[in-house]
Amino acid sequence: MSDRQSRVPAGPTVKREKSYYENWIDQEGIPIVGGLIVPDLRGDLPMKHWDRKGVAGTFLGLRGGEQSLDAYILEIPPTRNTEPEKYMFEEEYVVLSGRGATTIWLEGGKKQTFEWQEGSVFSPPMNAWRQHFNGSPDQPVRLLVVTNAPVMFNLFRSDEFIFNCDHAFNDRFSGEEDYFSGKGEALPNLVWRSNFIPDVSNFTLKDYAWRGGGSNSKAVMFEMANNTMQSHCAEFPVGTYKKAHRHGPGAHILILSGKGFSLMWKDDGPKEKIDWGPGSLFAPPDMWFHQHFNSGAEPSRYFAVHYGAWRVVVDYFGMADTSTRVGGDQIDYADEDEDIMEIFRSELAKNNATIRPVEEWRFDSLPPDETN
Ligand SMILES: [Fe+2]
Repeated sequence: MSDRQSRVPAGPTVKREKSYYENWIDQEGIPIVGGLIVPDLRGDLPMKHWDRKGVAGTFLGLRGGEQSLDAYILEIPPTRNTEPEKYMFEEEYVVLSGRGATTIWLEGGKKQTFEWQEGSVFSPPMNAWRQHFNGSPDQPVRLLVVTNAPVMFNLFRSDEFIFNCDHAFNDRFSGEEDYFSGKGEALPNLVWRSNFIPDVSNFTLKDYAWRGGGSNSKAVMFEMANNTMQSHCAEFPVGTYKKAHRHGPGAHILILSGKGFSLMWKDDGPKEKIDWGPGSLFAPPDMWFHQHFNSGAEPSRYFAVHYGAWRVVVDYFGMADTSTRVGGDQIDYADEDEDIMEIFRSELAKNNATIRPVEEWRFDSLPPDETN
């Protein structure tokens, strides 16, 4: 270090105060789970009655949410329902278990109701009224809800505005009676634009080989309710792993099927390993590389909610599909650390699983054609 560098004083070390959103979720009086991963959203969680919703809930507060997106869980007892609500942030719902219905309406407008089941995905339009009902006489409903509430709370810093704004976003939803019918429109870049997915676990996916895994590596992007948030469902084969990549915070990844693990690391730092299976939820932190490995006996399918709706051109993923060789944020197989394959083989052996012949899936391809 030169004399000049040694005289540069250290920067300030001011500890950040809690954000408006963090204070708000503290005040809601329900638990906050936290951590890098929740192993199984369908299992035991520290649920508590949430007065605002009228049912039990917990915030998930995953480390990788980072004041971008957050998530919470609701559990509706048999035959019961949530309180009617409207608010100024976007949400995507995944039905983790049970069956029921949601009623949506605009102030003074006609109510419309659609039914859902395990695996359904939907998004009440921002600031529209919504109320959720458990349709079973004896089974509870568990819902995963991913929101951009941190951004909206921290931007406006007003509960009154978030929960009592009268504005109707008619360009998002104006009471169309078939809004939640499940009809959809296929768009470029693997986008399926729809406001209701009956069962994401069985949705037909399209070729998505540029993230690795070879043929049978598939995905579809979902745009719902004219949101700025987007989601996608992806599946990759047994005995393969995907390429490491990185992007901004907030992408919440729910494992729908399959068993495996992910490595996550920042720059040249140590690799964190998280093991996952059906019901796991995790969110890679801001610009941490993350790499997903299928070390189980069946294809692995996941559903992820994040920013980046193609409709409004939010470029959330940036260079995440482009090789680091040309300045991007995806590591080609040929460039990965040597220990990656060793870790994968070790995990496969634990599960008595075998690697797919590497000539079938370890391709280093050019960035995807933006127009297809
Ligand atoms: Fe990612």
